[in-house]
Amino acid sequence: MQELHTNALGQLYNPVRQAGSVSPAHWHVLGAGAIGCLFASALRRSGCPATLLLRAGEDQDQATIQVEREGQTTQVQLGASPVSAPGHIGHLLVTTKAQDVHDAVLSVAHRLDASSQVLLLVNGLGFDHTLRTELPAPAYFHGSTTEGAYRLQRRHIRHAGRGVTRIGQPGRDSAPDWFGQWRRAVSPSHWDPLIAETLWLKLAINCAINPLSALHRCSNGELAGPQLAPQVAALCDEVIEVSAAAGFAKVTTHLHQQVADVISATAANRSSMLQDVLAGRSTEIDYINGHLIAVARHYGISTPHNQALYDRIIKLGN
Ligand code: PAF
Repeated sequence: MQELHTNALGQLYNPVRQAGSVSPAHWHVLGAGAIGCLFASALRRSGCPATLLLRAGEDQDQATIQVEREGQTTQVQLGASPVSAPGHIGHLLVTTKAQDVHDAVLSVAHRLDASSQVLLLVNGLGFDHTLRTELPAPAYFHGSTTEGAYRLQRRHIRHAGRGVTRIGQPGRDSAPDWFGQWRRAVSPSHWDPLIAETLWLKLAINCAINPLSALHRCSNGELAGPQLAPQVAALCDEVIEVSAAAGFAKVTTHLHQQVADVISATAANRSSMLQDVLAGRSTEIDYINGHLIAVARHYGISTPHNQALYDRIIKLGN
């Protein structure tokens, strides 16, 4: 009898029948934060081998992830492997902070080759330029997710809200072989032929929300109030101008409304940058407003509002 598996939504399916003769991809996961744990456990539960990559000094070959969802806790057992181990990595999921991507991927460079598929599910843009030059062999993919998960303790997360995951490779219309299995594990996931536009829109929205909420230590919803709404609007205006110069005019046509919608849909949430500031962690500012400012400079556009916020976040010294 074939073994049935459960996907992240709790639906049963037969991985062998659905995947045809393709054996499940073995995913190695770099970055065991909330999203890394969520996707690693979803992949494992759907029948894919999944291994957490551990920092140097951590020496174990098994790891347990606990996922709380709607009051129930599921424990998922997966493999573990120090980054320095020798084995080949065919499929690498990177869910680190943007500023950690370069060093994290280079720490497993000896395990990657031209057949390796590297999926960067990371906030912001511009974190992979040097990496791609230094390590050009693997195929790089990008992802963006609106899944809501947060860390309760080490490898113990709460899956607070379901979202959508989009994956793509700029210029590529059709999904790679592994995407069918991925989609069954992480549902709903869509192959996105316009991933560059999707990532730019996310950057545009984050530029308007993240640094302001982090500086004022306020929930996203408070950005809609009379004191901060004009600043949100000024940031959006600059982002729209830079987007037009960078070829993303259509993406940001309705940016003011889109930002207002995200603010209202996430009104009670603390942005990821505010969470980083409160926890004393470094922020992703260089890959959010910092990236926008760099693109603006390239096109000779000045972005005083984004620059002022960037400077103030940098001054926090995180
Ligand atoms: O970075 C974040 O926190 C999120 O992308 C967003 C949309 C700003 C909501 O908090």
